Amino acid sequence: MLGIETSCDDSCAAVLAGDGSILSNVISSQSIHDKYGGVVPEIAARHHLELLTPTIAAALRQAELTLEQIERVAVTQGPGLIGALLVGVGQAKAIAAARSLPLVGVDHLQGHIAANFISPEPFEPPFICLIASGGHTLLARVEDHSSYSTLGETLDDAAGEAFDKGARMLGLPFPGGPALEALAAGGDAEAFDFPTARNVRGFDFSFAGVKTALLYTIRDLGEGEAERRRADLAASYQRAIVEALVDRLSRALEADGGDHVAIGGGVAANGPLRAAVEALGITSHIPARELCTDNAAMIASAARFLPDCSQQAALTLDAYPSGAQR
Ligand code: KG4
Ligand code: ZN
Repeated sequence: MLGIETSCDDSCAAVLAGDGSILSNVISSQSIHDKYGGVVPEIAARHHLELLTPTIAAALRQAELTLEQIERVAVTQGPGLIGALLVGVGQAKAIAAARSLPLVGVDHLQGHIAANFISPEPFEPPFICLIASGGHTLLARVEDHSSYSTLGETLDDAAGEAFDKGARMLGLPFPGGPALEALAAGGDAEAFDFPTARNVRGFDFSFAGVKTALLYTIRDLGEGEAERRRADLAASYQRAIVEALVDRLSRALEADGGDHVAIGGGVAANGPLRAAVEALGITSHIPARELCTDNAAMIASAARFLPDCSQQAALTLDAYPSGAQR
C-alpha cells in the first residue's frame, strides 16, 4: 500500500507491506517556513506540488517496488491546511484512477493513533491514546483499529503550538519543540513554577495560561537575565506542558479503569514526555520518534483497517480542513 500525507508542511510518502510492516517512509521537510516563524499555508501547498512526486518516487525506490506493484492507495483527507491537503488528495486520486487501484481516505488523527498499529510491535486496542501535535491535543479512547472517541481536548492552544510559541519567545527556530527540548536539557526544570491548568475540569487541556506565564516571566526578568536563564526557562516551561499532558492522561486512565496507554503526534517525540508516560508504570506503547511526527506510514497503517472508497467516491473524494468527516 502506498500512503500519502500532506496535511501541513511535510511532504510524506510511505509503502507498507500487507502485514503492516514498513517498506519505506520518506519525509521531505520544507525548511522555508523557519524564515516566517511558522507554516505559511500557501507556501506549504506550493512546495507540496514540487516535492510530492519525487517523494513518492523515493518511497517506491526505497521499498524496491514500482508503481505497478502497488495494490492500494491511502491519503490524508483532513484535518489540516486545505491547500496542502488538496495536493495529496489530488495526487492520490490520480494514481488510483490511472491504475484502477482502490483508494482510502484517512483522518489525520486516526493516522497518529495508527502509528501504534505498525509492525513489528503492533499495540492492540483497547487503550487510551494521548495525541499531542501542532494542531491538536486530545485524549482518545481507542476501542478498535478503525475509530476512536474523544474523552477530552484542548480548549485553546495545542501542546505543540505551546512548544512552538514558547520556543519563539526564547529565540529558537521553528518548529520549536525539538529546539526547546534541546535547550531544556541544560536547564533546571524546577527553576520556575509555570501553571499547568489543573483547574480545568475533566480531561480537557488548556495551554494559553502557561504561554502567557512564560511571556510575563521573560518580561519581568528583563532582557539580560532572561537571556542568561534561557535554559532554565525552557526546562521549566517544558515541565509544565509535560505535567499537564500526563496529569490529564492519568485522570482519564483512573476514570476509565484502563491500564493500556499509547501516545502519538509530534509532541510524543518529546523525551521527557516519553519518560513520564513510561514512568506511569502501566502497559504503554510509545512509537519511534519518526512515527510520532507527521509521516505517511501512519496513514497507510490506518488505512489497513478502513474500507476502500466506492468507485464514485474515488473520483469525488475531497479534503476537509477541520473536524472529522469519516
Ligand atoms: O504531528 P506533527 O508532526 O504535525 C501536526 O499534525 O501538527 O506535530 C508537530 C508539532 C510541532 O508543534 C512541533 O514543535 C512538535 O510537534 N514537536 C515536539 C517535538 N518534536 C516535534 N514538541 C516537543 N518536543 C519534541 N521533541
Ligand atoms: Zn500530525
